[in-house]
Amino acid sequence: MSDAKRAVAQDESVAAINALYTELALRPDQDFGWGKGKQNAGRHGYDAAWLDRLPDRLWESAAAVGNPFALGPIHPGETVVDLGCGAGADACIAALLVGNEGRVIGVDVTPAMVAKARDNARLAAVDNLEIHEADMTDLPVEDACAHVVISNGSINLTSHKLCVFQEIYRVLRPGGRLQFADMVRDPAAAASPATACESWADCVSGTVEPERYHGMLAQAGFTAIETVSFTGYRTAETTVGATFRARKP
Ligand SMILES: C[S@@+](CC[C@H](N)C(=O)[O-])C[C@H]1O[C@@H](n2cnc3c(N)ncnc32)[C@H](O)[C@@H]1O
Repeated sequence: MSDAKRAVAQDESVAAINALYTELALRPDQDFGWGKGKQNAGRHGYDAAWLDRLPDRLWESAAAVGNPFALGPIHPGETVVDLGCGAGADACIAALLVGNEGRVIGVDVTPAMVAKARDNARLAAVDNLEIHEADMTDLPVEDACAHVVISNGSINLTSHKLCVFQEIYRVLRPGGRLQFADMVRDPAAAASPATACESWADCVSGTVEPERYHGMLAQAGFTAIETVSFTGYRTAETTVGATFRARKP
């Protein structure tokens, strides 16, 4: 593909992401063809106490593909960054876990999601959560300030995945933890490459095999890299949700 064609394809996928996630923020009752909401989060093993504690409006636009909180504890006083935070359900849970002495920074590129996440933080009565409209390849976050970076169903949506892992490495403290869920190419269907008709915004054609994530994480400097589980969440026959853990040395 020529550079010009690649640039057009990239612009189209950014526009499609913006359109789809604006719909999910503003009209969450539609059938998007993939799981969302509180019941979906329950299927991923979110703690029932969090499902009940947070108002239903927080869950209506949530599109969890797995459960980043099942990948390790988050402690009071820690700083957490949530990449592609959407309407903010995970960011609000993190804000409650870190408490008043802690800080959570949610980042999302879709303005309607950013607005909804800010409203949802007010509804959940958390005041240690800040939401930024930004791209996860260029985080508005200081170097080495985060104890934990989480993400749920978002990294597959960028075509600059290595750049994202390098940004995560930059903002994590030494010893900091990365705990994320994402859509990947199902290893059992790895022989089926992405086709032109697959949607990027629906978390299909931007997916890569789990080993590609391991390679990029290692290249960015991470250690203790693990695929922890496959979550069973699907956006197509060729994709499956998976959870990953890694650590900054
Ligand atoms: C499938 S939704 C998941 C949202 C949220 N993590 C959840 O569990 O409900 C993906 C989110 O990633 C955001 N996103 C996509 N590309 C992004 C990028 N390059 N930088 C920041 N956010 C991005 C979208 O706007 C959308 O809100």
